[in-house]
Amino acid sequence: MKVRQLYFALISLNLLAIYSLDASTIVLAINAGGSAYSSSFGFSYSSDIYYTSTSKASNKGGNIAHTVNEFIYQTERWDSVTWGYDLPVSTDGTYVLILQFAEVNFSNTNKRIFTVKIGDYVVANNLDLVATVGYRTAYDIFITFTLSSNSVSISGNTVSGAYSAGKLLVRFYLVAENPKLSGIILVSGDCSVADYCNMCYQARCLVCNAATLTCTTCITNASTISGVCQCNLGTYWDVSSRKCIICDKLCSSCSDKFSCTTCLGTNVLVSNVCLRACPYGFGTSCASVSSAVIDQNFANYFYGIYGLFQTGTSSSSYYFFNTPEILDPIPAKNRGLYFSGGSYIQTTSTVYISLNFSIGIWVWILSGSGDILTNSYGYKIALSSSGAMTIILESNTESVITVTTPALNPSNSAWVYISFIISFSSSTSSASIYNNQWLHI
Ligand SMILES: *[C@@H]1O[C@H](CO)[C@@H](O)[C@H](O)[C@H]1NC(C)=O
Ligand SMILES: *[C@@H]1O[C@H](CO)[C@@H](O)[C@H](O)[C@H]1NC(C)=O
Ligand SMILES: *[C@@H]1O[C@H](CO)[C@@H](O)[C@H](O)[C@H]1NC(C)=O
Repeated sequence: MKVRQLYFALISLNLLAIYSLDASTIVLAINAGGSAYSSSFGFSYSSDIYYTSTSKASNKGGNIAHTVNEFIYQTERWDSVTWGYDLPVSTDGTYVLILQFAEVNFSNTNKRIFTVKIGDYVVANNLDLVATVGYRTAYDIFITFTLSSNSVSISGNTVSGAYSAGKLLVRFYLVAENPKLSGIILVSGDCSVADYCNMCYQARCLVCNAATLTCTTCITNASTISGVCQCNLGTYWDVSSRKCIICDKLCSSCSDKFSCTTCLGTNVLVSNVCLRACPYGFGTSCASVSSAVIDQNFANYFYGIYGLFQTGTSSSSYYFFNTPEILDPIPAKNRGLYFSGGSYIQTTSTVYISLNFSIGIWVWILSGSGDILTNSYGYKIALSSSGAMTIILESNTESVITVTTPALNPSNSAWVYISFIISFSSSTSSASIYNNQWLHI
């Protein structure tokens, strides 16, 4: 049996708006030489910890440029000899280490000079903060590294001496005066997500103006609103890929992949999904649905029109008293419709089916296989000769979803009741079929 002109649409759901460095990605934040501090970026620094034992803390106070978190840079840890931090990092993965500096003691260049290393890797050679950014000015260095099986690599190269006993070893080497540090942030994830690696610490910021701490360029599909990069209308913020991703095709705004909030044009919103029309059985507002939307008995009449369906392409050519079309099924009184190879019935108008739907039909299968429902786009539900059912539907991204059930080998010498439920799962973004065992009588 074929029923034509059915429209299937599977669509989408999801959420979140984050303005600063995601608190959830912060592994460590330490105020070197100082006490705990709640930053403007939505996460807190702990008081100083994990430093090597001889080093000293101090707090110079005063204004610091290029930051809105001055307290981090007013305090410092320093020593007159090589010193450093042993930072606990245990889970394999990629991280960004952010080392925060400001020169608060020497106003001239060539006074304090030092070298920063992680193991053998030179993070900054002969760093002179006054020469680099100026006196009393925040300066953050971002280092992306990967931890794998107790080995640290940077830019694809293994770094010797960088990791020991579960700790990342950061060291400061004296060149002139006392090597120092103001703060540490350790973030899980890498710098390809640009928002980690700029001093704005702003999600969706590609280029930060370090002087004003405003974002000069947002990432693709984001723009500045009230000084903060936000995803453009028609896109949503995807936390895992850290991109502004376009809403589903029929959606004009969405809070995530499966949560359209408004639809384009005449498309209608049903359960957070935009569909081309209200599904059959729903009210025009698409707000309600009755339990059975089509309940058709093909047994008792010969008219060529059966409720929503008609034989072939014409309702005026049908068995037995009219000239039938070659592919019309043959009606048998009190038995139903007999479909030989290729014959079908079609719907009299377009039927829009809900995201989740179930279908039950009584059939007596003699042999062969065929399509139970198909539409003009080629999406369909088909039954194989072994009783395996295949559904081919359009996904929310307009790609094709195909799902096949195991073979159930229905009887071909009895009436069988075929019923199946098709549901769309937003968590897997896929369709699934549940079908009952064939019911024989
Ligand atoms: C600050 O500068 C003075 C000299 O002006 C020096 O003696 C002192 O060690 C410096 N302090 C730090 C923490 O570098
Ligand atoms: C940004 O939006 C444009 C259309 O406006 C789209 O073609 C492009 O793929 C989007 N980029 C990303 C990274 O989502
Ligand atoms: C469709 O069915 C799935 C699985 O039962 C359910 O999780 C989902 O919420 C349903 N979707 C709609 C739009 O009713």
